[in-house]
Amino acid sequence: MYVQTTFALALAALQAVSTAAVHQRDVLEDIQKQAIAALNKAAGSENAPSTCNIFNAHVRKDWSVYPITIHRVFDTCALTFTTRATMAAAERKSYTKAVNCLMSKPSMLDPAMVPGAKTRYDDFVAQHINQTLSIHGTGNFLSWHRYFVWSYETALREECHYQGYQPYWNWFSYQSNPTISPVFDGSDTSMSGDGAFVAHNGSVGGAGAIFLPSGNGGGCIISGPFRNMTVNLGPISPTMAGETKVADKFAWNPRCLKRDLSAYTAEKWLVPNNLLNLTTGPAARNIETFQNELQGRFPQGFLGLHAAGHFMIGGDAGDLFSSPSDPIFFASRLPRPRLVDMAGLASIPGLYRGWNHYAFQQPA
Ligand SMILES: *[C@@H]1O[C@H](CO)[C@@H](O)[C@H](O)[C@H]1NC(C)=O
Ligand SMILES: *[C@@H]1O[C@H](CO)[C@@H](O)[C@H](O)[C@H]1NC(C)=O
Ligand SMILES: *[C@@H]1O[C@H](CO)[C@@H](O)[C@H](O)[C@H]1NC(C)=O
Ligand SMILES: *[C@@H]1O[C@H](CO)[C@@H](O)[C@H](O)[C@H]1NC(C)=O
Repeated sequence: MYVQTTFALALAALQAVSTAAVHQRDVLEDIQKQAIAALNKAAGSENAPSTCNIFNAHVRKDWSVYPITIHRVFDTCALTFTTRATMAAAERKSYTKAVNCLMSKPSMLDPAMVPGAKTRYDDFVAQHINQTLSIHGTGNFLSWHRYFVWSYETALREECHYQGYQPYWNWFSYQSNPTISPVFDGSDTSMSGDGAFVAHNGSVGGAGAIFLPSGNGGGCIISGPFRNMTVNLGPISPTMAGETKVADKFAWNPRCLKRDLSAYTAEKWLVPNNLLNLTTGPAARNIETFQNELQGRFPQGFLGLHAAGHFMIGGDAGDLFSSPSDPIFFASRLPRPRLVDMAGLASIPGLYRGWNHYAFQQPA
């Protein structure tokens, strides 16, 4: 009852403001308030961790700076929590500088095993490629990727002297025109922009089930901090029309990074209704529906938030195996821990029981 009421109220509140506001009301903010309230309550409980908590948590920030949506993700030792914060231009630049640094350092993998891994950045892509089939559509999906992002963040900090934490791209912003988002506007403080226009017949997502029309890109990215980057590994499971797969999953295949930013995908799936459903709505009632709404119901033509995050970027990011080739990958993982935390704190019973190891416990 509580869940349904909250869902209905949140939707009503959303509809009320979305007509007036230039930027869509930030539903994350609404849900987050419930989560933080639950978190504060839990902080005083017997399950509360002593060394790792909301007060000493690291802060992961939203890349975009605009007045309505400001939030932050806390990452404590094993937990990620949300509150409010935003990222300054200088912080964004220091982040992309560190990523470029990782791309300039040599690989630590054995070249006999992974000939295509040339840089330290490629090492992360290779790990994702190698484990793809046991970390997607599986129960470890979120925990694996959370650990992966933490490892990457640690490499940026320890090997490239980055002082901040992994930022994130808020999926629920700029859906109608991703190219003007501070994340993708192509400026020096962005994560680089769209690919150059190359006529092509869209992409096919959802394990071959869902056709996604072309945007205005399709070619190499031409602006921003990653404009000259070289992608060394993949594609292994290309989804954009005209792309061909590489002979071997670890083969060296140097090329530019391609994108085809898609308002179609963002407006259809990266929407408040889908977020609300799996955080405080009906799909949050159990792990199965939570996962379905997050990872997609492909035969029904429902891409889900996770795949929509990939296909809103398109190009290399649409490859199930080698999608971390696009550095936006690491920033687009973060909304998902937030979703788990918010769903856990707001709705799913038992998800936070023993909260140092909470993420994949079955609901009581
Ligand atoms: C890939 O995974 C297998 C185990 O599944 C492991 O034996 C192998 O070392 C891994 N390769 C790399 C490059 O990490
Ligand atoms: C574009 O691709 C879709 C999906 O594969 C296909 O149904 C359609 O016929 C294609 N259109 C053209 C013009 O090739
Ligand atoms: C990127 O490449 C272009 C030509 O390919 C070159 O003119 C430019 O200086 C390069 N920029 C950086 C930042 O390396
Ligand atoms: C919410 O999720 C449930 C369970 O997967 C699904 O059946 C339903 O269609 C979803 N509702 C909305 C409004 O998307």
